[in-house]
Amino acid sequence: MDASERLNGEWPLEPSPVEMRRLVELAMERIERFLRELPTQPAAQWEGGGEVARALQEPLPEEGAPFPQLLDRIFQEAVPHSFNTAGPGYLAFVPGGGIFPTAVADLIGDVVNRYVGVWLAAPGMVQLEQNVIRWFCQIVGLPAGAGGVLTTGGSMANFTAIVAARRDRLPEDFLAGTIYTSDQVHHSVTKAAVLAGFPEERVRVLPSDERYRLRPAAVAAAVAEDRAAGLRPFLLVGSAGTTNSGAVDPLPELAALARREGLWFHVDAAYGGFFALTERGRAALAGLGEADSLSLDPHKGMFLPYGTGSLLVRDPATLRRAHATSADYMPPYQDDPDRADFCALSPELSRDNRGLRVWLPARLLGFRAWREALDEKLDLAHLAARELGQVPGVEILAEPVLSLFAFRLAPAGTSEEERERLNREWLERVNRRRRVYLTATRLRGRFALRMCVLHFRTHRERIEMALEDLRQEAEILSRRPAGRQSVD
Ligand SMILES: Cc1ncc(COP(=O)(O)O)c(C=O)c1O
Repeated sequence: MDASERLNGEWPLEPSPVEMRRLVELAMERIERFLRELPTQPAAQWEGGGEVARALQEPLPEEGAPFPQLLDRIFQEAVPHSFNTAGPGYLAFVPGGGIFPTAVADLIGDVVNRYVGVWLAAPGMVQLEQNVIRWFCQIVGLPAGAGGVLTTGGSMANFTAIVAARRDRLPEDFLAGTIYTSDQVHHSVTKAAVLAGFPEERVRVLPSDERYRLRPAAVAAAVAEDRAAGLRPFLLVGSAGTTNSGAVDPLPELAALARREGLWFHVDAAYGGFFALTERGRAALAGLGEADSLSLDPHKGMFLPYGTGSLLVRDPATLRRAHATSADYMPPYQDDPDRADFCALSPELSRDNRGLRVWLPARLLGFRAWREALDEKLDLAHLAARELGQVPGVEILAEPVLSLFAFRLAPAGTSEEERERLNREWLERVNRRRRVYLTATRLRGRFALRMCVLHFRTHRERIEMALEDLRQEAEILSRRPAGRQSVD
C-alpha cells in the first residue's frame, strides 16, 4: 500500500472544523488568563535564563503531543521568563505592543494564506496593503504619489532605503559614496550601510548638539570636505525620535540642505513617526514629509506585535529601480502605478500578509484610537520627567520631545565614576521591584537611565508606580553612607 492510500482519507495536517474550533478555544482560554494576569505579572524576569532555555531543548518530534500540554509549555515554561513586553510596566528600549485585533488578522491571514508578493496573485489583498501604505504616507505628510512597502521592522526599512538611495544617486561602482548622520542615529543605520556594501568609514557620524540633534552646519562642512577629497556625498540620514535620547533632528533645515547638495534625505522615524497623528507630535516632527524616504514602525507607534515596519518613499519608482529583477517563471509586473508588485519594491519575494495585520485594526478602530493613545503617552512621559526633575539629586539629561527621556542621579560633589555606580544600582533596585522595567544608555559618556512610554497598556497608574519606585530607591541610596555602593 502506498502512502496515498494508507491514511484512509484522514490528514493530520487538515484538522476537522470541530478540531479547529477546539484548538482556537483552548488557545483563547490561555490567552484570556494571560491577559487577566498581565497587570500583576513581573515587568521583567531575567535571572537564570540559561536554565530555562536548557530545560526547553527538545528532540525532533516524530509523533504529535496533546495540545493542552503544548500550551502549558508555551504559557508556563517559555513565556514567563522574559522581559514582559506585553505588559504595562515595560518602559525599556522602545516598547512594542501586541494589540489583539492584529492577532485575529494574523489568524485570518495565515489561513487564507494569499500570496501578496505580486499584484496579480491577490489584487484585493495587495490593495488592502496599499491602502495602509497610503494612510501612512498621509500621516507623515508625504505627497500624493508617494508609496512604499511594509517590512519586518525598522532595520529592514533602513536597509531598503539605503539600497534605493545608492541605486538612485550613485553609479554601479559606488564605493566613493558617503553617508551623513548623527552620533545618536540608531545602530541599524550603520548596519544597513555596511549591508548595502559601504565600508563603515564611509558613514560620517557627526557630533550632535546639546539636545542630541544633528547639526546642519556640521553636515555641510563634512560634505564640502568629502567633495574636496574626491568622495561622493549622496545620503543624509536624519532621525525623528532617536532611541538613545528621543531627539528629533532639525528636519526642515536638513531637508533644505539635502536638496541644495543633491543628497537623498532619509528619515528614521521608526520610533517617533506615528506621533504625527497628534497635534503636539506634528509640531515636533515638522519637516517629516520632506523626506525622500522614511522608516515608520507600526510595531512601535501603532502598538502592533513585533514584525511590522514600513518604508515610505516620495517616489516609488526609486524602490522599483533598486529591487525589480525578473525571471522566466515569474508573472509579468504591473505598469499601472496603482498596482504594486511588492516583491519588485523590496528584497523579499515571499512573505507574510503584513497588510492585513495593520489594515484590520485600523479599519476596526479608526486612527482616532491611536491619536488618543499617543497623546496619552506624550502626557505620561512629560509628567514623569517633570516629577522626576523634582526628586533631589536627579538631573534630566534629555527632556522628552516625544515620549522618551533620559535622567540620572547626580549628587553634588560626586565623580563621574561614582555617579555611574550609583545609577547602575538605582536601575537595578528599581527593576528588582518588578513593577516597571527600565534600561540605561550613555549620553556624552554619562551613564543615564531612560524611560520610553510607548506601550498601549501603560497608563497613569503604572507611571505613578514607576515614580514611586524611583523616588523610594533614590531616597534609600541618598541615606546610605558615602562610599558604600554595593547592592544589598
Ligand atoms: C529609531 C529606530 N530606528 C530603527 C530601529 C530598528 O527597528 P527594528 O527593531 O524594528 O528593526 C529602532 C528600534 O528600536 C529604532 O528605535
